[in-house]
Amino acid sequence: MNFVDRDVVRELGERFDPLSADYLLDPYPFLSRAREIAPAFYCDAIRHWVITRHADIKGIFRNPPSFSAQNANSPLRPACPMASKALEEGGWKAIPTLANVDPPEHTRVRKLANTAFAPKRVAEMEPFIRSLVDRFCEERFRGGRVDLIRELAWDLPVLVLFKILGVPDSDVESIKTGSWNRIIFIYGRPDDDEQVRAAQGMAAFWRYAEALVAARLKKPENDFTSALAHAVDPDGVGLTPQQTTTVILNLLFAGHETTTGLLGNAFRRLLADRQAWQEIVDDPALIPNAVEEILRLDSSVIAWRRHAMADVNVGGVDIPAHSNLLLMLASGNRDPDVFDDPDRLDIRRPNARENLSFGVGAHLCLGAPLARMQATIAIEVLSRRLRNLRLVENEPLRFAPNVSFRGPLALHVAWDA
Ligand code: HEM
Repeated sequence: MNFVDRDVVRELGERFDPLSADYLLDPYPFLSRAREIAPAFYCDAIRHWVITRHADIKGIFRNPPSFSAQNANSPLRPACPMASKALEEGGWKAIPTLANVDPPEHTRVRKLANTAFAPKRVAEMEPFIRSLVDRFCEERFRGGRVDLIRELAWDLPVLVLFKILGVPDSDVESIKTGSWNRIIFIYGRPDDDEQVRAAQGMAAFWRYAEALVAARLKKPENDFTSALAHAVDPDGVGLTPQQTTTVILNLLFAGHETTTGLLGNAFRRLLADRQAWQEIVDDPALIPNAVEEILRLDSSVIAWRRHAMADVNVGGVDIPAHSNLLLMLASGNRDPDVFDDPDRLDIRRPNARENLSFGVGAHLCLGAPLARMQATIAIEVLSRRLRNLRLVENEPLRFAPNVSFRGPLALHVAWDA
C-alpha cells in the first residue's frame, strides 16, 4: 500500500461510524467505497477492525484457531458500572455457550443443539407456517393497505419459534421487548441511562428463559427446550441448566428478530422491482433462489464479530493480536469479485447461495433452514393471494440503531381488492 493509500484508509476509519443516521438508512454506498479502498481498516468510533471483502470474511470464519468467536455477544460499548449492577441484581447469569465459544467446547455444544434442532423438527413446521401466513392474510390484510411488518413479519417468526421452543403465544410482546433491549445493549451504542434500562430488560429476559428451562427439566414436553435440556453426548454428559438457559435465551432473540428482518427486506426489494415480483407471481418455483438473492443483496444480519487470537494478516493488512473484528457480511455479499453486477437484484442469479449471511463453517447459523422456509412460504402465499401487492410510495424507512441487525421497522404496502 503506498503513502497516499494509507492516508485514505486512515481517513476512512476516522470518519466511519456504523451507528450514524446515514449509514443506518443505507450502508451500501459506504461499503462499496470501503471495499474498493481497503480489505481491512481500523474504525475509531467502535474500536474494531472492519473487514470488507468476501474471500477474507470467509477465510476468517473458517479459521477458528486464529479468529475466535468469543466476542460475538459482547456489548459493543462495554457495560457501565450501573448497567453491570442492574444485570447482576436482576439475576443475569448468561455464560459463553454456543455462538461465542470455540472448538472443542463449541463442537460438543453444537452437536447437542443439532440433535435437539433436528431437520425433522424444522420440516414439521411447514404446515404450521403456511396456515399462520394464510390466517394473517385473511384476518389482518384488510382495507387495501397495511404495514407488512406489523401485520406479518413482526410476529410470524416469533410464533413459529414459540412452537418449537414450547413457549405460549401470549408472550409475544414480552419477548419482542426483550429482543429490542438486547439489540440496543449488545449491538448498539446506548448512553448510560439507556444501557441501564436495557440491562434491566435483559435480566428480565434471562429470568424468563431460566423459568422455562426449569419447568422443562422438571416436566419434559415435546419441544426443543425439553430436548436440549435432557440431551447428552456419547459420554452421557449434557448441558448445565445455566448453559441450556443461555442457548434458549439466545434463540429467543436470534430465532425471530433475524427472520423479521429477512421478511421485511424481501418484500421491500421484491415489491420495488415490478418485473421480479411479476415473475414470481407467474412462477413460484423462482422463490427459493429469490430468497437467496435477498439474503445476498439485503441481508438482515449485515455484520458479525470475531477476535484475533494472534497477530494476523487480512488481505495484506496487518492486524495486531487481541483486536476485535467486524466482518461486513453485507459488503462481502456485494463483492464484485464473486457476484456480477452486485448491486442489482437478480432473482435468477446462479451463485446467490454464496452469500455470507448465515456465516460459514463451524458456527453456520443453526436456524438457516427455518428462516429460508419462512421467507419462501410467506412470499409464496402473498404472491398467490395478493398478486398486485405494491409498496406505498414515499414512506420513509427506519432501522434499529445497531451494527448487526437490519430490516425496516415498518413497510407500508397496498393492493387492489
Ligand atoms: C435470516 C435469518 C437469519 C440470519 C441472517 C442469521 C444469521 C446468523 C449468523 C451470521 C450467525 C453467526 C455465524 C458465525 O458465527 O459463523 C448465526 C448463528 C446462529 N443462528 Fe442465525 N440467522 C438467522 C436466523 C436464525 C434462526 C431462525 C435461528 C433459530 C431458530 C438462528 C439461530 C442461530 C444460532 C443458534 C446461531 C449460533 C450457531 C453456532 O454458534 O454454532 N438463526 N446466524
